[in-house]
Amino acid sequence: MPSRPPRRVLVTGAASGLGLSLVRALVARGDHVLATDVQPERPAVLPAAADYLALDVRSDDAWAAALAHVRETWGGLDLLVNNAGVAAGGRIDVASMDEWHWIVDINLLGVVRGCRTFTPLFKEQHSGHIVNTASLAGLVHAPGMSAYNTVKAGVVALSETLSHELAPHGVTVSVVCPSFFRTNLGTSFQGADTEMEDAGKKMVSGSKRSADEVAATVVRGIDARKEIILTDRDGQIAWRAKRFARPAYTAVMKRAARRVARGR
Ligand SMILES: NC(=O)c1ccc[n+]([C@@H]2O[C@H](COP(=O)([O-])OP(=O)(O)OC[C@H]3O[C@@H](n4cnc5c(N)ncnc54)[C@H](O)[C@@H]3O)[C@@H](O)[C@H]2O)c1
Repeated sequence: MPSRPPRRVLVTGAASGLGLSLVRALVARGDHVLATDVQPERPAVLPAAADYLALDVRSDDAWAAALAHVRETWGGLDLLVNNAGVAAGGRIDVASMDEWHWIVDINLLGVVRGCRTFTPLFKEQHSGHIVNTASLAGLVHAPGMSAYNTVKAGVVALSETLSHELAPHGVTVSVVCPSFFRTNLGTSFQGADTEMEDAGKKMVSGSKRSADEVAATVVRGIDARKEIILTDRDGQIAWRAKRFARPAYTAVMKRAARRVARGR
């Protein structure tokens, strides 16, 4: 591996799943990592070398405090990983508006807040890398999970927009689009459509992919400064099919919709 200077990294949603695996992988590579998550106390699972700051991605004040902390501690930042997220699954006439507001605030506006908070610093530095965790659901849109698909597609759109907008300022933007992998994400399902959510929980807990495997691919994608980081073959096939074999893609989605209509 070529030697390179350690990066200064902030990761959101770092207490579990992909965020935690990314913190471990980045620390192991010698990066300086500020792990953040919603809980006030430092999670015991974090590696000792990582610093911790409580950061609820819904709070503008918490983001302002994170920026102040980074400026004071490091004087700058190289990599911002907007990873925190929750899951919702629900048919359009079953999921409630409260669920929409909840997931938009965390999964979409949480990422927007992170980008807005750190872009002025990145512009000052004329360098930086923003990595936003979306999902394969942001690229291909299966039935029965419109709120999740919509916010993740928003993260994909935001990331592409910023990759163009911030390139003249020396800033790279990547978006991570994994298919299902094993984490605690299933525990965040709390909506009205319990049938769809049970199916989603099974997809997460029954996946053959671990968060560590996904994180290793993400770190390679970050190092290569890829614009879209697809972390698994299922995702590559689905994304390719949507663009280049649309009738086959539509047929798969229609089959899935018939299963959803039958209640799985
Ligand atoms: N697991 C999957 O199958 C899968 C697939 C595609 C994308 N993703 C995405 O990966 C990201 C990480 O999820 P995960 O699967 O590791 O789940 P996870 O539940 O294991 O971890 C998510 C972390 O986000 C934190 N979090 C939740 N709300 C927060 C808030 N308001 N502010 C700050 N932190 C908050 C949680 O405390 C938790 O530590 C999410 O954006 C998720 O949508 C997951």
